[in-house]
Amino acid sequence: MIVFWEPKFSVNNKQIDAEHQKLFELINLLGSHMMTGQGYVVIKDVLRDLLRYTEKHFANEEKLFKATPYPHAAMHCLEHQKLTQQVRELQKKLEKNTSGLSVEVLEFLKNWIENHILSVDYGYREWLGK
Ligand code: FEO
Repeated sequence: MIVFWEPKFSVNNKQIDAEHQKLFELINLLGSHMMTGQGYVVIKDVLRDLLRYTEKHFANEEKLFKATPYPHAAMHCLEHQKLTQQVRELQKKLEKNTSGLSVEVLEFLKNWIENHILSVDYGYREWLGK
């Protein structure tokens, strides 16, 4: 295991928490293979699943914003677009060269958790809690 989902990551919404846990699973799948020098075996699948995950997860969060309505939705949606674009760029890089990319993808996923869930997603956690 590389990273664990903990209650501090909760945004007080069961569905969204479950989707975030899927992100942790993807990180751990890649991380555990990297520890045995096999990151290249799963990296394509991890990125494919990550893109599917992001599209589904971001759409679900954005539905939630419309339903509330969340005042920082526009900024948050922009962050989603940037993250999706970053995943697509990583996929393009992977088509050209796999060496060293596992480390870059793992760092990207870890930063995503730290910077997006714990700061950007936390914004609506507070909003939903009102
Ligand atoms: Fe959970 Fe805004 O992504």
